[in-house]
Amino acid sequence: MTVKVAILGFGTVGEGVYRTIQTHESELEALLGKKVEVAAVLIKNNQKERKIAKDVLITTDFNEIINLSQLDIVVDAIVGKDPAFNYLKQAIERGCHIITANKEMFAHHGKELLDLAEEHQVSIGFEATVAGGVPIIQTLRQLLKVNRVQQIQGIVNGTSNFILTEMREKKQSFADALKLAQEKGFAEADPTNDVEGFDAFYKLMVLSRVAFGNAPNWKAVERVGITSITSDLIETADQLGFRFKHVVSIQKEGDKLIGSVRPVLVSKSHPFYHVEGVENAVNVFSDIVGRITLQGPGAGMFPTASAVIEDLVYVSQSNQQNKLQTNPVIEVLPLAAGSVNNFWLISGVSKTELSPSIHPVDQVSDQTFIVETTDEEILQKAKEFPSLSYYPILDGTQILQNKKEYLTVTI
Ligand code: HSE
Repeated sequence: MTVKVAILGFGTVGEGVYRTIQTHESELEALLGKKVEVAAVLIKNNQKERKIAKDVLITTDFNEIINLSQLDIVVDAIVGKDPAFNYLKQAIERGCHIITANKEMFAHHGKELLDLAEEHQVSIGFEATVAGGVPIIQTLRQLLKVNRVQQIQGIVNGTSNFILTEMREKKQSFADALKLAQEKGFAEADPTNDVEGFDAFYKLMVLSRVAFGNAPNWKAVERVGITSITSDLIETADQLGFRFKHVVSIQKEGDKLIGSVRPVLVSKSHPFYHVEGVENAVNVFSDIVGRITLQGPGAGMFPTASAVIEDLVYVSQSNQQNKLQTNPVIEVLPLAAGSVNNFWLISGVSKTELSPSIHPVDQVSDQTFIVETTDEEILQKAKEFPSLSYYPILDGTQILQNKKEYLTVTI
């Protein structure tokens, strides 16, 4: 008896899954009581040399895979919505369990696939869609079933965090740091998805559905990437005791959700301060347990393969647990990240341009200030001055308490 697996895509993720199935053959067999075999790999370009065993079907035609005489699990390691969604629908209809690492596809079509899987009594694993090897999805799906989640905050794009760390620690340029992230296999095929926050946005939508049982109105969620963060700003923040982090946040307030995807500043006391390089971290705030922080490698061949391999056991052993909790439709408001957004680092305007509505707490340089104000006022000012960039300080109240410790220049 064997479990036959097809891997769709043989890029960083697909290859990592293939290799891990070989290296962890005995663990998989011991857990499942059956040998796991890769029966087929779907590729795009059949000219490339690949290290795949001769008895594996390697094809560019998905029909050859879906028509195999035995096929138990289909692993989606393709980028983008199409044709992945279509392939997975066919796989479910054929009675296969599916595992996906494809966040864009799952953010768009997760609900439809979960419903279809329910109908066909198969399971879906999607741990690899969010935060690479960090087991946040299964923590929410399996381990926090009674807790009511109130807020999730996360660093969920390894590439952005890697770039910000390289720029600060090694004084690398943005372009060089991105190039290195691409070489290391962290970045998306189109890195715009990483640096402009799309990848993190899709991951937030997946998290939101798992935690709150709902997909918010995408248009209402603020999405800002890291491209406005210059080396100068990073240095300024560092001198003030802060680090830039690209953070997704979704929180429940009454029957509403407040979501955002944007760069923020954190001080030494915030759990994200020491999350560096390709590491991801997710904070879950829920009513019984309080705050849990999960941290680990967020991208790359083996961290992502780890999430897929664990899902391989999950889908094989689970009894079609596709149902996510459902909540009534909740409105999503566009607001900045985090629950305490009263303090901001802002740049690109003069003191005169800030007045009279915003009074700086501190002037860091000619056009850079620490201010204490509301989201509305910041957004209003940003409309007036498109050159303005603004970054909430997540744990900003500490500035008030320990102002002198953080602020080196007084006004
Ligand atoms: N490009 C993604 C990242 C890969 O950097 O986080 C993992 O989803």
